[in-house]
Amino acid sequence: MNNYERLLLENKAWAMEKLADDPGYFERLVDIQNPEFLWIGCSDSRVPANEITGTQPGEIFVHRNIANMVVHTDLNLLSVLHYAVNVLHVKHVIVCGHYGCGGVKAAMTNHDYGIINKWLRNIKDVQRYHRDEINGMPTEEQKLNKLIELNVQEQVMNLAKTSIIQKSWKEKQYPHLHGWVYDLHDGITRPIFEMPAGTHMDPIYEFDDL
Ligand code: CO
Repeated sequence: MNNYERLLLENKAWAMEKLADDPGYFERLVDIQNPEFLWIGCSDSRVPANEITGTQPGEIFVHRNIANMVVHTDLNLLSVLHYAVNVLHVKHVIVCGHYGCGGVKAAMTNHDYGIINKWLRNIKDVQRYHRDEINGMPTEEQKLNKLIELNVQEQVMNLAKTSIIQKSWKEKQYPHLHGWVYDLHDGITRPIFEMPAGTHMDPIYEFDDL
């Protein structure tokens, strides 16, 4: 049996198990998508949104990319964010990074990664904004993990800089923005930063005519 065939077999077994527990399980999910959370996480295979939060299909709307970035020209992220905020009306947006992130690690090097350079540039900028704090950490691993935390914080702030979030904050007083970091060593996710609706930021980013 090929590796990929195992996935289809496991899927069949999973579907049968769900039905055995609850015969109406799939039918109920067909017509309703009402998640309260948007998850913006890393593509890393070790950080699956549903598994680590103990949530079921239907509970989290998910966007993942290398190093859980919120890039203000990324049409994919912006489309997900717009849909989550204005159609699904999610109450919370979570940016979840993880210690040991390969994307952040790559951004700390001077290696040429081809087209990924352009993505990593966004992380290098975060490193430059916080250079002193990062360089103040004693070991390489601690420098990396500090940048991972600061990157999560910057991505939450990037969400708050969008007109999508600012308009929703003004009209509906949500969503609440969260920055979390998952630890591969113990499986625990720790909140490190948050921006409740209405949080002010550098005024240059605040739209006054939404
Ligand atoms: Co990662």
